[in-house]
Amino acid sequence: MISIVGISGSLRRHSFNSGLLLAAGELLPENASLRIESIADIPIYNADEESANGAPASVSALQDTISQADALIISTPEYNHSIPGVLKNAIDWLSRPPSARPRVFGDRPVAMMGTAPGRFGTALAQNALLPVLHSLGMRCWDGRMLLPGARDLFDDEGRLHDEEIRQLLKTFVADFVQFVEG
Ligand SMILES: Cc1cc2nc3c(=O)[nH]c(=O)nc-3n(C[C@H](O)[C@H](O)[C@H](O)COP(=O)(O)O)c2cc1C
Repeated sequence: MISIVGISGSLRRHSFNSGLLLAAGELLPENASLRIESIADIPIYNADEESANGAPASVSALQDTISQADALIISTPEYNHSIPGVLKNAIDWLSRPPSARPRVFGDRPVAMMGTAPGRFGTALAQNALLPVLHSLGMRCWDGRMLLPGARDLFDDEGRLHDEEIRQLLKTFVADFVQFVEG
């Protein structure tokens, strides 16, 4: 069984990107599972705080969860042609201390997904995220899930209802699971 942790880069209640992650979990092949984790409780990184108290419990718990999984999927919006600060902040905390990096990120397969109401479907956010994941030593999958026109694909509660895109997503996650299996 391939265990995957999913992280959304949006904290919005009816986020399209969180909805994309939920749909990915519904469409996984039978030999894989997705555990969606929130980054909402991760505080703003401050090196003084880290020196004084170490990593907060929310960070240590997520580090442990990712370490125990076979792979990671990040579904993120694009903010100002990059990734949202909350996502970068979470990754920064998760990468601390440097000795934790191999356990949390090192050689772990990772896939990127994203959707946006606009025309480019988070391409620039994924281009910005890729070098961050590379710098942490992750095994970045070449597959990309970039979905423009989110308002036509998701309902008001962030559920992916477009059947054609659901089929695309099903193939995407199946291909990623194959990549994870090596
Ligand atoms: C601060 C901010 C910056 C944004 N910048 C971009 C952008 O550069 N490109 C884009 O396609 N959408 C941009 N958007 C619109 C988001 O794609 C849109 O709000 C999307 O619904 C966010 O994803 P979510 O539904 O998962 O929360 C921006 C939104 C915010 C709040």
